[in-house]
Amino acid sequence: MEYIVINGGKRLEGEVYVSGAKNAAVAIIPAAIAANGVCVIENLPYIEDVEGLTKAMTQIGAVCTLRDDHTLEIDSRNITNCCADYESVRKIRASYYLLGVLLGRFGQAEVPMPGGCNFGVRPIDQHIKGLTAMGATINIEHGMIKARADRLVGTNIFLDVVSVGATINIMLAAIYAEGVTVIENAAKEPHVVDTANFLNILGARVKGAGTDVIRITGVQELHGGTYTIIPDQIESGTYMIAAAVTGGDVTIRNIIPKHMESVISKLSEMKCQVSTGSDYVRVQGGGDLRSVNVKTMPYPGYPTDLQPQMTALLCKTKGTGILTETVWENRFQYINELKRLGANIKVDGRTAVVSGDSNLTGAQVNATDLRAGAALVIAALAAKGETTIGNVRYIDRGYERIEQKLGSLGADIRRVHREA
Ligand code: EPZ
Repeated sequence: MEYIVINGGKRLEGEVYVSGAKNAAVAIIPAAIAANGVCVIENLPYIEDVEGLTKAMTQIGAVCTLRDDHTLEIDSRNITNCCADYESVRKIRASYYLLGVLLGRFGQAEVPMPGGCNFGVRPIDQHIKGLTAMGATINIEHGMIKARADRLVGTNIFLDVVSVGATINIMLAAIYAEGVTVIENAAKEPHVVDTANFLNILGARVKGAGTDVIRITGVQELHGGTYTIIPDQIESGTYMIAAAVTGGDVTIRNIIPKHMESVISKLSEMKCQVSTGSDYVRVQGGGDLRSVNVKTMPYPGYPTDLQPQMTALLCKTKGTGILTETVWENRFQYINELKRLGANIKVDGRTAVVSGDSNLTGAQVNATDLRAGAALVIAALAAKGETTIGNVRYIDRGYERIEQKLGSLGADIRRVHREA
């Protein structure tokens, strides 16, 4: 078993480089199946979810070559199999993208019901609604989603909820559909735009990504191409918050500052010094920080994937902060673990009331999901003494070399192997 051990109380200082975006990578890798050619994907994050998805791609006949410069080559010319293997994808939420893309290119797909982080019901009804409206027949049998279509035909699809997954999945299925598919009330997250940009490089005709109406005009064939994944918004925000909680001075490089506006705005409201350049943000967190209220929202609102990290920061600010989670119904499970470190937080439904006077002290805790793990790392950086974090595999799903990156900023952090 692996653990991350942190001796808290060290001020973070220096520069850190952000990796490619996980949630873009896990959409763009399966999207490469749409191309009858070779795709080269650059700025790929080396994380568990990418590794798992690459294995699943190989299993269906894509030839994947991972280079040691964060580049993945995918040759989808000889896909042999439209059925994704349960073992390869069961832990990865984004495996549902295989459904849309295989269905779109080959008229059939079988994909296990998606796994991923568990924070309440994670329905896929909007994916199914969109694909069905385009002419697919979808059945769920023995834990597999089975989709078939003699032909997909473009239509207007209004999403009942703003869903990143449904937006991208419908977009993938629509590439080869006859006519025009219009997704209304579409998600606007940076990884939705990145996936659309990737598809357009290959010859797709996707317009409007980044707004709430996306129009996809079907084409005959996509060719290969080279594409560079955007920097990870959530990893960037995690290091910004880590800088703030330690009263540090950190420049986070290789980012798109525009994607960070909601986080910059909250940190500034807390009286953190934040400045930006073309591809960096600098966070200086000295002095007393004020508590703030935060409500998670689809992009461009404050991201749910930075909610747990913000809770950890609010434990160390002056006053009381109220966090409202509007995206996921049960994303406060990590709070019991934060309480082991001394956090003073009350949860009522989708609201958490966080007292900034928490005296955080090191303890043994367990990550309950990916961002929960990041929140524990942030709290441990601010806690007195040693914290040992278990279930590190969750953190590895989305953060590349987190202990090395934080260590280079002066954190006392190490990964240890112990017998279970
Ligand atoms: C993506 O998940 C991200 N994952 C999540 O990041 C992120 O939390 C989420 O978007 C919201 O931003 C990936 O991109 C791989 P949704 P996704 O469909 O696409 C409801 C992380 O930590 N909904 O946008 O699965 C759903 O219940 C992960 O990196 C339906 O009701 O999320 C939720 O309340 C965790 N029916 C809301 O929509 C549907 O068919 C948003 O979900 C689909 C979703």
